[in-house]
Amino acid sequence: MDAFNLLKADHRKVEDLFSELESASGQAKMRVFEQIKTELELHTHIEETIFYPALEEPKQTHELTLEAYEEHDVVKKLLQQLSRAKSPTDEWEAQAKVLQENVEHHVEEEENELFKKAKAVLSEDDIETLGEQMESEKQRQQRTGSKAASGKKSAKKSASKSQSASRAPKRMPARKSASKSSSKPSGSKGSRSTKSAKKGRR
Ligand SMILES: [Fe+2]
Repeated sequence: MDAFNLLKADHRKVEDLFSELESASGQAKMRVFEQIKTELELHTHIEETIFYPALEEPKQTHELTLEAYEEHDVVKKLLQQLSRAKSPTDEWEAQAKVLQENVEHHVEEEENELFKKAKAVLSEDDIETLGEQMESEKQRQQRTGSKAASGKKSAKKSASKSQSASRAPKRMPARKSASKSSSKPSGSKGSRSTKSAKKGRR
């Protein structure tokens, strides 16, 4: 499975769900939102644990990858806030719109900028391997249910220990690119602070 095709398919799915969200109302809207939340949590999880770590080291993709982690954080915060509501108020609708715009911006940047640069630093084999790893991690998470999505946040907070546990077996060689310090406990934590110092969202 090609990593880019897998991620693009996820993006299209979320876009469809956002269209559904627009036309739904009341509790049906909240149910569509729950689906969006589940999809986005799963998607950000596989990107953050498998795809982004392969792109963090190479110079060409470094900055965009750090920015992507930050954008995920914004999306996750909005998801948390939105999920507290029992019904869609006007404020909720406004916040859901902000979520949608954030996701659209992120998807656009990923597909038009990050993926293009990623193709230059990853080999065909890398792309295939990353896709397979993300696919099987998705299936694993779906089997274990929503536990994954909610557990992810705390797993991330407790940093390298749990992350390397889940990441280690899946880590890929990234041979064309991060040949040197690919063993660094990459990922959200460290990058996040460097990133915010460096540059805000555009
Ligand atoms: Fe993403």
